[in-house]
Amino acid sequence: MKQIFILGRNPELSKAEILAYADTRNLEPKEILFEENYLVLELNTQIDIQDLGGTIKSGEVLSEGSEEEVADYINKEDLFDSDKFTYGVFGNVDEEILKEKFKSEKRKAVLKHGRQRMKSQGGEKFEIPKSDVCFFLSALDDKFYFGTLSQEYDYEGVKSRDMEKPVRREELAISPRLSKILINLAGAKEDDLVLDPFCGIGGILIEALVRGMKVYGVDRDANAIKGALSNMSWLKKNFKIMKPYIIERRDARKVPDKQFDAIATETPLGKIVRHRPNRQEARETIENFERFIMPLLKYFKSIKKESARIAITFPKIREAGVDCSLVEEETGLKVVTGPIFEGRPGQFIGRDIVVFE
Ligand SMILES: C[S@@+](CC[C@H](N)C(=O)[O-])C[C@H]1O[C@@H](n2cnc3c(N)ncnc32)[C@H](O)[C@@H]1O
Repeated sequence: MKQIFILGRNPELSKAEILAYADTRNLEPKEILFEENYLVLELNTQIDIQDLGGTIKSGEVLSEGSEEEVADYINKEDLFDSDKFTYGVFGNVDEEILKEKFKSEKRKAVLKHGRQRMKSQGGEKFEIPKSDVCFFLSALDDKFYFGTLSQEYDYEGVKSRDMEKPVRREELAISPRLSKILINLAGAKEDDLVLDPFCGIGGILIEALVRGMKVYGVDRDANAIKGALSNMSWLKKNFKIMKPYIIERRDARKVPDKQFDAIATETPLGKIVRHRPNRQEARETIENFERFIMPLLKYFKSIKKESARIAITFPKIREAGVDCSLVEEETGLKVVTGPIFEGRPGQFIGRDIVVFE
């Protein structure tokens, strides 16, 4: 089957997440289309996008071929079982075929443009129509693809889980979206033992537990650990969490060797910065970070399974970022994905996301 993915605000990162997820589960992904904010993959099984952090809608390709073939399909199928509805269209082909179809069928179908306008980190604006049904219509080299986007990311569910947990740390905590992305990039599967060696109040651990993974989290800050433990007991009470978790106050250098299946973590990016660092300050911060993280990565390599992956964030300040080839040289790890930049306009410190094996 061919699955369509409408990607979130960082399409490159979302795509890497989907491919990692598909590879981990042997779904044999083959890229058909990747443009702007959408991706079409051939897969042997459909992916449930609630497992992903970076995909907002998804569906299956229902028709492909020449423009006429796809138009024929659209004209003969019902597409939506109602005489009055709103619809949105994603993809690079305009919606004329659909408009004509609904008009000739005398159905009250109102085309919605993006009521939510989403800005990608590259600055382009994507339209996210709020409508009863969403279609996908796109073309590449004279080949047309059409589908209905019936899967929608459960923003409300994820947001309420995030907002209702008893301990929150706005400035330091990672979003559920990025937590899920790191877990998937690390190749973690249900039942795996996942380590977060800088767990803070447990953002990544929560998302891994919800997915049926076992987790081990450490942080050297006693308050963070207290917060993480409160969050975990709340999670266990309110969600069906069957897998065990261990959370300890400990330095990341002292994590016991449990031959972890995956490591997903957001590193301390340094002090919270209140002004834009100059080039010199940026360089110095990165060099300090490299001195801190190199021995740790070498250590993490020794406590994980050989094929296990480490998905990690590195600070990126102005143009200064961690030298990944140096990390490879010093630690013996190999970069499998990235660095992929993740940041918001106006932020002083962004992140590079890198996956090592
Ligand atoms: C960016 S925060 C992680 C936030 C976390 N993802 C969350 O959801 O709260 C980085 C964490 O690393 C911890 N940390 C810094 N150095 C450490 C070390 N050497 N060993 C263990 N934890 C450390 C800090 O206390 C901080 O909580």
